[in-house]
Amino acid sequence: MKVITTIKEMQAEMGLQRQTGKTVGFVPTMGYLHEGHLSLIKHARKENDLVVLSIFVNPIQFGPNEDYATYPRDFERDRALAEGENVDYLFYPSVEEMYPHNLSVKAVVLERTSVLCGRSRPGHFDGVATVITKLFHIVMPTRAYFGKKDAQQVAVIEGLIADFNFPVELVAVDIVREEDGLAKSSRNVRLLPEERQQAPLLYKSLTTAKSLIEQGEKDPATIVNAVKEMIISRTNGTIDYVEIYSYPELEPLETLTGRFILALAVKFSHVRLIDNLIMEID
Ligand code: PAJ
Repeated sequence: MKVITTIKEMQAEMGLQRQTGKTVGFVPTMGYLHEGHLSLIKHARKENDLVVLSIFVNPIQFGPNEDYATYPRDFERDRALAEGENVDYLFYPSVEEMYPHNLSVKAVVLERTSVLCGRSRPGHFDGVATVITKLFHIVMPTRAYFGKKDAQQVAVIEGLIADFNFPVELVAVDIVREEDGLAKSSRNVRLLPEERQQAPLLYKSLTTAKSLIEQGEKDPATIVNAVKEMIISRTNGTIDYVEIYSYPELEPLETLTGRFILALAVKFSHVRLIDNLIMEID
């Protein structure tokens, strides 16, 4: 595995590789790798000649009161995990390398961001779309792998690829969970022990909602209230949102039909967790 820290070297290397006709699978991450990230890498490994992993904690997607400074980082551990998954290139740029001066142009996401995390984290998806645009130009991948854990991010990247004509195939990979159902996240290490015990309830509330829907419940408000009730009564977390929208358009629904997402965000003492369920009914 080759570790590359400069944009120039990465572009030169990928330019050469692409000339030989090799397909490139790209997995962008912010590091502190866990099995969710490794699942994306495994999918990329299976479907492409070369695999590129990027690790970059992107400052411009964090709000002023968010956790950029304390976001967990451990490069040596990540490097060993990437090597174990047979990654070919690990792109690990510094902030100065990616943002040598104030941006004169940035990507602004116009659709699919007025709800869910887009509403709670103003500017977040502009930061994501901007860094992904830069990374696509640097890596020039055939396919890019994103997790459904960040379902709104997948919807935004789908729009970015379509509207900016990136010749990149988006692959959305299923959520990887702990045995007790908690969605794997780099931020889970910041849960207090008592909160860690309560956190699986988030997923439990989603699967309970799923059963209600499968039993015929079609009213979004009834489902949302059932989920909220479970979280409020059985965890110390504070609900940021529990919402249902069509997916991937993220439009409000009067009644449950077609493909939709039930998504939640809950704040604990030092960490905000998200989870979701995407379903399709007639
Ligand atoms: P990060 O939070 O490190 O996540 C990197 C990728 O791993 C994302 O596509 C995310 O959806 C996926 N992922 C995280 N947890 C997962 C899980 N439990 N199961 C499946 N996939 C999971 O998302 C980002 O970084 C950044 O916004 C980034 C896209 C790198 C842009 O900076």
